Amino acid sequence: MFYDRERELEKLNEVYSYPGSSFLVIYGRRRVGKTALAREFLKGKQGLYFFVGEKDEALLLEEYSREVEERLSDHLPPYVRSKFSSLEELVEFLLDFSREGRLVVVFDEFQNFRTVKPSFFSSLQRLWDEKKETSNLVLIAVGSYVGMIKRIFMDRKEPLFGRVDEWIKLRPFDFWTAWKFVRSLIDVNPKDFVELYSALGGMPRYLLYVPRYYSGNTLEALWGIFFDEFAPLREEGLNVLKLEFGRFYRAHFSILEAVSLGHVTPKEISDKTGMKLLTVGKYLSELTNHFEYLTKEVPVTENPLKTRRVAYRISDEFFNFWFRFVYHNYTALEEDPGKVFERFKAEFPAFVGKTYERIAVEFVRRLDLGFRPERVGMWWHKGKEIDVVAYDRKNVALFEVKWRDLGLRDARKVLKSLERKAELLPLKGDYRFGIIARGLEDKEELRKEGFLAFDLGDLIRPRPQRPSPLS
Ligand SMILES: Nc1ncnc2c1ncn2[C@@H]1O[C@H](COP(=O)(O)OP(=O)(O)O)[C@@H](O)[C@H]1O
Ligand SMILES: [Mg+2]
Repeated sequence: MFYDRERELEKLNEVYSYPGSSFLVIYGRRRVGKTALAREFLKGKQGLYFFVGEKDEALLLEEYSREVEERLSDHLPPYVRSKFSSLEELVEFLLDFSREGRLVVVFDEFQNFRTVKPSFFSSLQRLWDEKKETSNLVLIAVGSYVGMIKRIFMDRKEPLFGRVDEWIKLRPFDFWTAWKFVRSLIDVNPKDFVELYSALGGMPRYLLYVPRYYSGNTLEALWGIFFDEFAPLREEGLNVLKLEFGRFYRAHFSILEAVSLGHVTPKEISDKTGMKLLTVGKYLSELTNHFEYLTKEVPVTENPLKTRRVAYRISDEFFNFWFRFVYHNYTALEEDPGKVFERFKAEFPAFVGKTYERIAVEFVRRLDLGFRPERVGMWWHKGKEIDVVAYDRKNVALFEVKWRDLGLRDARKVLKSLERKAELLPLKGDYRFGIIARGLEDKEELRKEGFLAFDLGDLIRPRPQRPSPLS
């Protein structure tokens, strides 16, 4: 059953309503749900779905001719042939056909044309430029290899450069959507869900393993999904990323592994991997800007364009987990999976704590603080950290995040130390202090005293969307 993707569908329908032709790209990593989204969008519309397998042009055209036959034959005058002898002929037909009415055409795994018929990109460009003004085609190129898709459409030397009207980057579900999705399948408590989410992320495909592997114990479920001899996701990171990086995948993997282990600055990564700082810089920039597998973070009070205080993290929760616990232990997993799992059990709570901090940042972004923050994020300086800081010119709200159950006395201690750390912040305004714990006793008491006090129960409740900049 198809779930959510409301904003993406809204965007697609908006483009669908524009007069004339549009060229759209849907991209995102393998398994994130691009094909599912494209198929959902096609429902109830006059449209065609073409999968670009790595085959001969002739074989592809056989399939494509059949699809045209099945879906459009009622609208074709009998003298029109729906057998095509080249991809160019097919595209020309589609552009001409859509003169009379709107037609959606999806090419899934579009980047594969590179191996099927490299010259197709320039013929597509020629036909598109010539005919798009008079036709009503919504052309959707779906692509899994982020780097490759960008090269095809964003490189000035490539024929299709500048032809794309709209880009949709498909991301995993956010924490709240993932929660609702899983809850629609199986009964899970919020604490276990946070643990599962910190390994599976918001990937619908991976979350579908929860009903199969989870029966009340998250460690057992993760063992079955990631570590066991037949675990379905044990090789997943390799399968998804190897083709993306091509020949140089080992270097990219080393960097991602180092980051997942907590080496987050260029210097630390260079020390850990033994690569030269300059080389590390090159890879980091590629992994961040081109492939988008890393996110560059700066302390929330710093100017991202000027500061040198940067830290990298793996953007995708699943990859973060996989590199940290599976890839890092590959050899050991072959030899002694039991030992790997023991170590994993010891390190996992702290790992979940980090995930909980990121969820907390998103939670605070959605929270009504009584002011609209200019920025929300983490802050750190010389070994001191504040988990969430939200501020505008007059107000500052600070939170300590704890993946633990806190009693009232613990909570007060945490708040006291937060107040001390606040003195290090270069921010003026009215300060408020808060806690986001896993469980929090006597929240009401703390709130009466003016603190912002939340636990997982508050966090997991469905929230309104992030406020739109237009409202
Ligand atoms: N929105 C969704 N709702 C429910 N399940 C989904 C959704 N998106 C993806 N899936 C599941 O994840 C699997 C992988 O999605 P798919 O569209 O094939 O990914 P991609 O094309 O990006 O590699 C699908 O087979 C489906 O089971
Ligand atoms: Mg697909």
